[in-house]
This record gives sequence, C-alpha cells and structure tokens, in this order.
Amino acid sequence: MLSYRHAFHAGNHADVLKHAVQAFILESLCAKDKGYSYIDTHSGAGGYALSHEWTQKKAEYAGGIARLWNEPKKWPQLAGYFDAIHAMNSSESLENYPGSPLVAAHFQRPQDRLTLMELHHNEVELLRQNLGRDGVAIHHRDGFEGLVGLLPPTPKRGLVLIDPPYELKEDYRRVADTLKKAHKRWPIGIYAIWYPLLAKAVDRSEGLKTALANLGFEQALCAELSVQAQADDFGMHGSGMIVLNPPWKLDEKLAELLPALSQALAQDNQAGFTLEWLK
Ligand SMILES: C[S@@+](CC[C@H](N)C(=O)[O-])C[C@H]1O[C@@H](n2cnc3c(N)ncnc32)[C@H](O)[C@@H]1O
Repeated sequence: MLSYRHAFHAGNHADVLKHAVQAFILESLCAKDKGYSYIDTHSGAGGYALSHEWTQKKAEYAGGIARLWNEPKKWPQLAGYFDAIHAMNSSESLENYPGSPLVAAHFQRPQDRLTLMELHHNEVELLRQNLGRDGVAIHHRDGFEGLVGLLPPTPKRGLVLIDPPYELKEDYRRVADTLKKAHKRWPIGIYAIWYPLLAKAVDRSEGLKTALANLGFEQALCAELSVQAQADDFGMHGSGMIVLNPPWKLDEKLAELLPALSQALAQDNQAGFTLEWLK
C-alpha cells in the first residue's frame, strides 16, 4: 500500500538539495552535444501547485525554495535550477514547483531521452498529464525492478535518479541491491541517490553509505545538508545525496554551494553540511 504523496513536501529543503544536485549533473551532461539518457525510478507527479491544500498543509516550501527565491542574484551557481522553476511560473512569484521529472524536462534537448517510472496509480496519472510528450517514456511500474530491466540505456551516457520515500525500511536494502545489479549492466552511468537524515533511533543513512561505497563504482561523492538538530526518537532533520560516478567538478560546485545553502535553510544553530568522498 503506497501512502506517500510528494505534494505534502514539494519544494522543501530536501527538494532543494536534490534538485540542485540534479541540475548540476544535467548541466554537465548538456556540455556535450551527444544525447544522454535520464531515468527517474521514483518520479512522483512531476510538478506541484504550491497552492494545493496538501502542499499548504505544512507549507514545507517556506523553509526550502521560498528562502532562496527572492534573492536569485545570491545564487548564480543555481541559475539552471532557478530557470527550471521559472519555466513553471508565468511571473516572478513562486506558484508552482517542479519535481525531478520537470527539472529533467527543462534540460532535455531533442537528442536526450527521459524515462520516468512511478508505482502509485494516481501519481502516474498526474505524471502523464504533466509530462506526456515525445522523447519522454512514462512507466507505471516498480522503479527498482524497472531500472535493472532498462540498463544499459540508449543513449549510453546519462543519469539515474533514485528517490524512494523510505517509508518502508526495505527501500534501503532495495536501493543497494538494485545498484549492485545496475553496476553489472551499466557501470559507467551516473547514479544520484537521495536519502533522509532521521532521528537517532531510526536513522539508517550510515548503513546506506557504506553499502553504496562498496558496490564497485569508481567514485562515490556524498553531500549532506541538515537544517536542524538531530532528534532522539523521530523526525527528519536533513537529507543527503550520494552520487556514484559524479561528473567532473561536481565536488567543487557543491563545495561552493553547501556553506551558503546550509546557512540559508538553517532552522536552528545545529544546521550544517558535509561533503565527502565515500570512495
Ligand atoms: C519522494 S517521491 C519522488 C519525488 C520526485 N523524485 C521528485 O523529486 O519530485 C517518491 C515517489 O515514489 C513512488 N514510489 C514508491 N515506491 C515505488 C516503487 N517501488 N517504484 C516506483 N515508484 C515508487 C511514490 O508513489 C512517490 O511518488
């Protein structure tokens, strides 16, 4: 039973980290004329109206993208990410926010191929409404199984984004198992994996990092952003992105971005970031 709906969280601090990293990687892929493949294993609805009652319930975007939006000059390195958001808004005001599929669609050129997977039947219907077009394949299926079946993709260079809800503990194991199989089929792909930083009693991020560092990929870069102190029992205080086979200079771009981003998104004085090579 799938209960997670991303509309409740659209544009929050975790989306900012995830989509900023996604945009950096897509910019690198666009630096060459040759086409690339983009595969999203857990796509969600594709894009979100911030006025929707689900998004308004906790208005998480207020502690996320809304903190950056009014000062675009402060974030020159995020111009590509900001452009993807602008593409969904007719004025300067922030009314809509792109999910990872619409961020990818913003960068897509005619020679690039997008494959979007989503298991929830309502979400996939919204995804079809938001992204049904030439050059975009939408699959209503399990993204872990689907990914292995799609590899190696054509074009043969590209990015896979893996962004499960982690409401089921088995998602952590499935991420690692899937990437083990993916490494056998497409070892040169770039893989970006999002994960939450949770309260001490329930956090599983260290195990995930260790598992992904030992899969055989040549390099593993890990960026974490926490916006508040870690609680003991429950709650998410931040999130991380692991990038396997990161593009050239992604580490430098993140080293420049993360100090300012962690300050801008801080909710208390325990906010901070880490950037490390796991491998
Ligand atoms: C965190 S959201 C995705 C957000 C999206 N990547 C973005 O950045 O805009 C996770 C999505 O995964 C979907 N989902 C959960 N389990 C899945 C599975 N096994 N395969 C594919 N999609 C799944 C959920 O329905 C939900 O829409």
